[in-house]
Amino acid sequence: MGEYAKPRRANVIAPPDPEVFPVHAGKRFLVSGATGGIGAAVAGLLVRQGAAVALADLDDVATRTLADHLDGASAGVHPVPLDLTDPESIAAAAERAVALLGGLDGLANVAGIVRMASAADHTRDLWADQFEINVMGPFELARRVAAHLIEEGRPGMIVNVSSDAGKQGHAEMIGYNASKAAVINWTRGAAKEWAQYSINVNCVCPSAVDTPMLRQVALDHEQGTPDDLETIFGVMAPEQLGRLVTAAEVAAVISFLLQDSVQAIRGQAINVDGGNCPY
Ligand SMILES: NC(=O)c1ccc[n+]([C@@H]2O[C@H](COP(=O)([O-])OP(=O)(O)OC[C@H]3O[C@@H](n4cnc5c(N)ncnc54)[C@H](O)[C@@H]3O)[C@@H](O)[C@H]2O)c1
Repeated sequence: MGEYAKPRRANVIAPPDPEVFPVHAGKRFLVSGATGGIGAAVAGLLVRQGAAVALADLDDVATRTLADHLDGASAGVHPVPLDLTDPESIAAAAERAVALLGGLDGLANVAGIVRMASAADHTRDLWADQFEINVMGPFELARRVAAHLIEEGRPGMIVNVSSDAGKQGHAEMIGYNASKAAVINWTRGAAKEWAQYSINVNCVCPSAVDTPMLRQVALDHEQGTPDDLETIFGVMAPEQLGRLVTAAEVAAVISFLLQDSVQAIRGQAINVDGGNCPY
């Protein structure tokens, strides 16, 4: 009865428009998935907060365009090619970021993919793709950044992007769910191992963020229902929030977790999901 009495989406909470302060002045970060919905929001926010940023993504043209849009080298913003399926590309991206920025203070490990298919149709190829790009690639990138920090004897911050799917699991995305659960788990292990080098590792677990990835998921849902996209987005919006989460809201939490002052939060999986997941 209590569930039935809930006020359904009557209470839409508007996205905030917070002031930006130079909390990352002098810092240098590598952002993967930098031209995607969340990645671009993270990169833009870090730059506005005073950081120099290497933008790493698969799409070379999009990465260069975004770097220009963020005022390029004069603002300390550099495009870096990255293919998370290729260990050599990952090593080269980390090296290039270090060379361009004169070192690194942290990593926002944002890139990822989702492949929608029922569990019965979830072939080995789909599992392999998602584990390569969501788990092995980001871990390899973090390992390279950590190796640089350890070699330099410098503290650093790593923030991975998991998902509420990694905690709750959603239908039609069983490989994605498992890959994001793996991110939560390796975040904990890396935090334990790298604490001795003053490297802090956390992850965020967003849900229903208005980005190209969510649009792809909504289009896939559209195939199986008579509902239009607007209705599907309405259903996906977290109930407490009454709207989709914005990329800027996720970026704000990632930026917070990249701050030096965040030392007591370690190895955590922080929900940015409008209240979807209770743990
Ligand atoms: N949008 C959501 O609702 C949502 C919810 C939970 C978690 N996430 C996670 O947030 C992260 C960002 O997602 P988004 O919503 O911004 O999606 P997006 O599709 O807009 O961005 C993903 C980015 O990853 C890049 N990428 C894909 N394959 C790559 C590869 N092989 N090498 C390098 N880069 C590659 C893409 O080029 C793209 O720029 C992902 O890890 C995703 O799983 C998103």
